[in-house]
Amino acid sequence: MHHAAADAAWPGYSSGMDSSVYPARRARLAAALRAAGGGVAVIPTAPERNRNSDNDHPYRHDSSFHHLTGFDEPGAWLVLNASGACAIGCRAKNPEMEIWEGVRLGVDAAPAALGVDSAFDIETLDAFMLEWLAGAPAVWFPFQPGAGVAPRIDGWLATLRSRARSGVEAPAAVRDLAPLLAEMRVRKDAAELATMRRAAQISADAHARAMRFSAARFRAAPDGTVREYEIEAELLHEFRRRGAQSPAYPSIVAAGANACVLHYAASDAELRAGELCLIDAGCELDGYASDITRTFPADGRFTPAQRELYDIVLAAQRAAAAVTRPGARHLDAHHAAVRVLTQGMLDSGLLDRDAVGGVDDAIAATAYRQFYMHGTGHWLGRDVHDVGEYLSLGEAPVERLDGAGRTIHAKPSRVLEAGMVVTLEPGLYVRPALGVPERFWHIGIRIEDDAVVTDTGCELISRGVPVEAGEIEALMRDAA
Ligand code: GLY
Ligand code: MN
Ligand code: MN
Repeated sequence: MHHAAADAAWPGYSSGMDSSVYPARRARLAAALRAAGGGVAVIPTAPERNRNSDNDHPYRHDSSFHHLTGFDEPGAWLVLNASGACAIGCRAKNPEMEIWEGVRLGVDAAPAALGVDSAFDIETLDAFMLEWLAGAPAVWFPFQPGAGVAPRIDGWLATLRSRARSGVEAPAAVRDLAPLLAEMRVRKDAAELATMRRAAQISADAHARAMRFSAARFRAAPDGTVREYEIEAELLHEFRRRGAQSPAYPSIVAAGANACVLHYAASDAELRAGELCLIDAGCELDGYASDITRTFPADGRFTPAQRELYDIVLAAQRAAAAVTRPGARHLDAHHAAVRVLTQGMLDSGLLDRDAVGGVDDAIAATAYRQFYMHGTGHWLGRDVHDVGEYLSLGEAPVERLDGAGRTIHAKPSRVLEAGMVVTLEPGLYVRPALGVPERFWHIGIRIEDDAVVTDTGCELISRGVPVEAGEIEALMRDAA
């Protein structure tokens, strides 16, 4: 490699997103700190994690740190006070290490590149923090068990208290920054929604690719099998070739009965003609997750029993989407889905009317949990199960149903607002049991889409892959 050319080609720092958003976000956090009594906030990025010997897990920044900086190097801390002053501690330039690990932004370049007031060598964090914390009313950091931050804070506070006789005032309060960060992240701005739309489209195309792959394989060899990992490879191929950095979570590719294991990971099981394949997979693009589930027939044609249950799940998802709008509560979608699913369980004979009564009785007795045992959605954003409070903390406790259909006395579920993003993911999972019609045994179906709450309703940004049974069959029929 020619030295000078290589040097010039080194990428330096690039953030991926318009860098003007980060100072604005930090200003909002400073305002939130002022409103909450002031103080100094410290936000470390994620640590590097060793896999074995010299071999680390792929590095992933901390989501909140990245939200405020756009900076994706390890070994960095953001420090910010209520008047809006902010500094970044980062790794010093190190030509020797950079040969092995890649270019570092470095202390000198950081202020201009990140728009922060100042930067310091992360090795001098202790000294820097002692200066910033002296006289501050509070120190804020995201409380996270095991993150190793609390002992550092304790150490700084102890040092400052030991200097009391020389007139140093240690912060009187240690406060959790996580709720403030979550509140900033729960509503997505236009730039974030644009990235999430792109992520959802890549994932949708990956699901369509997997469906076409399965169809083509069973067309070529109707009595053959396809391994789950072969389908997973199609997903990963599409994610990476489109520039997504990684899956947002371990891909679920579940052949047949494996779909009834909720956290099944793609493994080596064989998918056969006549079985369903459940894929729950989504890419992470530029720090944002997508989360899509589709369930399709291996060979492209639903059996009548599969189709009967599939259409119930799809109707449940439609009902959930219909109530997802500003002013509705987060749990409304779940309750709407449960009602349709439970009605479907009664109509199909999964639940025995004589045993459980009508739909209201079956819901009140949570009889549906035999076949639908999880929630209908979660916040989606930088993290696949994104941060954000699920309760309306400003309201008084009321008697209500929780996600599992139990009557509880608690704060109401949160009111949705435009810019929030939730998943809608009802399902049915039929394990063999006495009284359950045999034609449904081992069928597991989930349909999951990503919904942006708009001014008037919601927009499903992951519908780039078909969801109607007939449309899935058509796509698979047309596959090469
Ligand atoms: N893929 C994780 C979830 O659906 O919640
Ligand atoms: Mn999900
Ligand atoms: Mn999912």
